[in-house]
Formats: sequence, C-alpha cells, structure tokens
Amino acid sequence: MLHPVVLSGGSGSRLWPLSRQNQPKQFLRLIGDHSLYQETVIRANKLPDAQPPVTVCSEDHRFMIGEQLQEVAIASGGILLEPIARNTAPAIAWAALHVMATDPEGSLLVMPADHLIEDENAFRVAVAAATGLAEQGWLVTFGITPDYPETGYGYILRGDALGADGYRVQRFVEKPDLATAERYVAEGRYAWNSGMFLFNASAYLDELARHAPAVLEATRAAYATSNKDLDFIRVAKDAFAANPNDSIDYAVMEKTERAAVVPVSCGWSDIGSWSSLWSVAQRDDDDNRHEGDVISVDTKRSLVRASDRRMIATIGVEDLVIIDTPDATLVARKDRVQDVKTVVDHLKAAG
Ligand code: GDD
Ligand code: MG
Repeated sequence: MLHPVVLSGGSGSRLWPLSRQNQPKQFLRLIGDHSLYQETVIRANKLPDAQPPVTVCSEDHRFMIGEQLQEVAIASGGILLEPIARNTAPAIAWAALHVMATDPEGSLLVMPADHLIEDENAFRVAVAAATGLAEQGWLVTFGITPDYPETGYGYILRGDALGADGYRVQRFVEKPDLATAERYVAEGRYAWNSGMFLFNASAYLDELARHAPAVLEATRAAYATSNKDLDFIRVAKDAFAANPNDSIDYAVMEKTERAAVVPVSCGWSDIGSWSSLWSVAQRDDDDNRHEGDVISVDTKRSLVRASDRRMIATIGVEDLVIIDTPDATLVARKDRVQDVKTVVDHLKAAG
C-alpha cells in the first residue's frame, strides 16, 4: 500500500517577516484558503488507494499540525514528533519503520509540506508510474524541467529508459555551485529533483544500510523507544539526537545505484522565497500581486502584502517586495529576496 509521508520540519526563513520560528511557512495561508501543509495533505488524500498521510514534524508544532488536520477533516496515519531536527534522512527512516510495523511491504510517497502543485492530474499520473517502478525496487524521484540555474536544488541526469515512463538515474548532484548548475541547464539533459520520492520502505532502509548506516542505526535505536499518545508518536531525545544531520539527497540519492526518475510537468514550485511566491500567484494587469489594503500608482511587477493594521501605497516603483506585519516590515528588490536569510541570521545572532 502507498503511504504518503509529509515532511514538515523546515522553518522557511526566507519568507521572513511572515514566517517565524513558531510559525513556519508551511502553516501560513500564503495563497488561497489553505496552508501549504493543508494543500499537501489534501493532495495526498486524493490519490487513489493511498493510506492516511503520516506527518513528520517538530514536537513544537504538534498543536499546529493537529489543528490544521482537523480543519480539513483528514485522518492521520500518525504524527511523528521529532524531539530535535536531524534533517530528512532520519525523518524518512523513522517514517519507514513506522509504516513497516503495520505494512511490511508498504511504499512511501515522500512529500515536502511546502510545495505547490498546480496540475494535480499530471501529478497523479506520475505517482502511478512511480508506483510501478517502486514495486520493482527502484527509489523513484520526480524530475522537473529546469528553467534557470537554481543552486538550491538537486540535479538529475537521466540514463537508460525503464519502460515507458521512467529512467534510471545516471547521476544525482545535490545543490551544485552556480557554474555547475549553469552548465547542467545549458546541457539540457538534467532535471531538477522535485524533493518528492516514492519507494518501498524496506528498499530505502536497505540503501541506508549501504550508504548511511549511522542513520539507520540511530533511527532504529530511537524507534525502539517509541511511545504513542493518540496520533502523536514520540521517541527518546538522546536516541534520536544520535543521528547525523543528513538529508536524503546527500545520504542516499547521490550514492544509490537504485535511483530512477519519472519526469513530471505538474506546475510544481517550491515556495522558497517571496519572488517564487510572486511568480506563482495570480497577478493584475501590471503584474502586481496585492494582498490586503494596498493602493498602487504606476507600480509594476511587485508583491505588496499589507497586514490588517495599516494600508500600503506605492508610487512609481518596480520589481519590489513589500511585506508588512505588526512588528516588522520588509522592503526588498525582488531579485534580492534570497538575502532575507541574511536578515534572519542577523536577528538570530542578536538573540
Ligand atoms: N520532519 C522533518 N525533519 N522535515 C524536514 C527536516 C527535518 O529535520 N528538514 C527538512 N525537512 C522538510 C522541509 O520542511 C521540506 O518540506 C523538505 O523536508 C525538504 O527540506 P528542505 O530543507 O526544504 O530541502 P531543500 O529545499 O534544501 O532541498 C530539497 O528539495 C529540493 C526541491 O525543493 C532536495 O530534495 C533537493 O534535491 C530538491 O531539489
Ligand atoms: Mg525546500
């Protein structure tokens, strides 16, 4: 059976000042009525034959997750509460052990909680193709045609065809430097890794045993300390903390010989920054996206978001991002919003 596993551990610091430590981006209603987390569980819930989604998140976010699930009336397949963040390789390992306890042959569809998918039909078709490959033992990635040399993504070079819908992965490179990313995009043979994966739970654990045995060992030891409280499942902090901080991309996908890729064109985007939110949001004739009480005169290609405390007016500006919240306001050039991280680092350092 197919078990969606929603990863909801990130903090989304590039969406400051809206996202904060206790209010990460996946829980915000950025576009429309639902948060990205809710959109993700709704998407999971619509897949034919999928089991209730398993969520892996921080202990600190348990109430948020509980509330947001209840609001959309989706049953949970378990909420695994990490006592400390150790990145995605251990989070997925825990989910694999959790699923295998009741379904030893089960497959995992790993879904980050902070992505947007516009064409759900294309997504479902790709999941069906990936399910077939996972049954043959492949660890399947979903490949997106790249449109610029993003250095925050993984790159997949496709190899031989595996049937009609997928390919063997010839090479997986996580977060290359800019020159390398530029070369890959120019070459035209690489896809972006979407960050979603589909594989048999036991195949993932096998590959961990081969390429990242420390993760498997620590997660197994932590899992042995599990205790369940309604939908919430906890493990001993010391045991889980013994995990190395490692992502699935570096720990497994760059190394395994069993990786496959299913290309998919489903309007995928990783809402990683204010400019990516602007680019996927609906915009007016001047290419502006306004939220809340905003008046703009001769303003173009800008994202302006007022808080409910005050209105914002702009005159004669272009390519700006203005985000107001009750206690902080961001004004940035749209092509500089990656540097919001620098602001957040300053704030962290200042305590
Ligand atoms: N539960 C849990 N615990 N979730 C986590 C943790 C953790 O310790 N760390 C990260 N996550 C979640 C994030 O919230 C996000 O939903 C997902 O796992 C991926 O983590 P990111 O930190 O956002 O990874 P990334 O964006 O740098 O890179 C990944 O995604 C790219 C596409 O968006 C990689 O898979 C890249 O190869 C890929 O291109
Ligand atoms: Mg991400």
